[in-house]
Amino acid sequence: MRRVKMAVIGAGTWGENHAMAFSTYPIVDLQYICDLDGDRARRLAEKVGCGWTDRIEEIASSDVEAVSIATPDHAHKGPCLAMIEAGKHILVEKPFTIDLAEGHEIIAAAEAKGVKLMVDFQLRWHPHYMGAKHFMESGELGEGVMGYARLSDTIHVPTEMLSWGSASGPEWFLFPHTMDVTRWILDEEPVEVFARGSRRVLKGMGIDAYDAIQALFQFERSFVTFETAWIIPDSYPTVVDNKFTLHGSKGRIELDSTPGIAISSDRYKYPFSSHAITRYGKPFAHFYESIRHFADCVLEDKEPAATGHDGLMATAMIQATLRSLEAGRPVRMDEVLAA
Ligand SMILES: NC(=O)c1ccc[n+]([C@@H]2O[C@H](COP(=O)([O-])OP(=O)(O)OC[C@H]3O[C@@H](n4cnc5c(N)ncnc54)[C@H](O)[C@@H]3O)[C@@H](O)[C@H]2O)c1
Repeated sequence: MRRVKMAVIGAGTWGENHAMAFSTYPIVDLQYICDLDGDRARRLAEKVGCGWTDRIEEIASSDVEAVSIATPDHAHKGPCLAMIEAGKHILVEKPFTIDLAEGHEIIAAAEAKGVKLMVDFQLRWHPHYMGAKHFMESGELGEGVMGYARLSDTIHVPTEMLSWGSASGPEWFLFPHTMDVTRWILDEEPVEVFARGSRRVLKGMGIDAYDAIQALFQFERSFVTFETAWIIPDSYPTVVDNKFTLHGSKGRIELDSTPGIAISSDRYKYPFSSHAITRYGKPFAHFYESIRHFADCVLEDKEPAATGHDGLMATAMIQATLRSLEAGRPVRMDEVLAA
């Protein structure tokens, strides 16, 4: 059986999930973990049993075919362009980029080199969201009318989990998921946004990021409120708070992706941990499936289900949201896409 030679760049929280997905997938031959922090790369490589390096050039000159990139939100462009230049297929974490021009540059480079480009929009592989997509496609719910999509984190994420919270924000860290999956389920393009946000609580703690944002998007037919917050108290039973409602002309979808297991020990909690569900020699969770899908696409020479264009649209939606927040007025998507 042919196996795809791969590497992971970025050995942090999410890069570890990439490494676990690939190292337990029989069609993948995971060769390297790369991180600027050599100790991190080495520790993860030892855990999953592959080589490591702190030099991205080593990946570029190796014979790996495909690379997944899980560097911080603001640090995707450099590794993406270096890998494309070296002729590697790339899977890049959301947000594709935090700048639209950078997104265009990466897409153009991938097209010029003829390499695959996938953005890791893992909610498209979440069984509940796949169900929502199915029921919209089946016609049972009619056309989209109104939606509400909330994805928020406890304050643990900007204050303790991420060292680079000020360079991102809940808009770049969380909106890509809900904005992409909603656009996918509705099968409609966004037209205009009006947003309100707050920058008080985190700023007071030395983190220069939005606390919370609501962005009301008009799509071609439907309108959807996207909500995100980075200031939920740590007493909340799960790090991630995710709710989605969609009213159609004939029916309604409601979903809550809170893990269905509640633990009462030191406190009451819904554990959000892939490590808790590693069994039978491999980790189980929908977010491993999006990563494995990329390897399938390389092996079978298929177009990934979440493309660079999808990444670009999510980036444009967030950029339009930020522009609306700054200007205090509705912003049309074509103003942002034309810039
Ligand atoms: N799909 C999801 O649900 C999900 C969840 C969490 C994070 N993410 C995304 O994954 C990415 C990484 O997030 P994280 O939480 O793992 O961050 P992290 O800070 O834990 O890890 C990032 C790692 O990248 C390394 N790095 C930075 N620049 C580099 C470079 N140029 N070359 C090599 N290594 C470099 C850092 O040293 C660090 O070890 C982000 O874009 C984030 O939004 C996705």
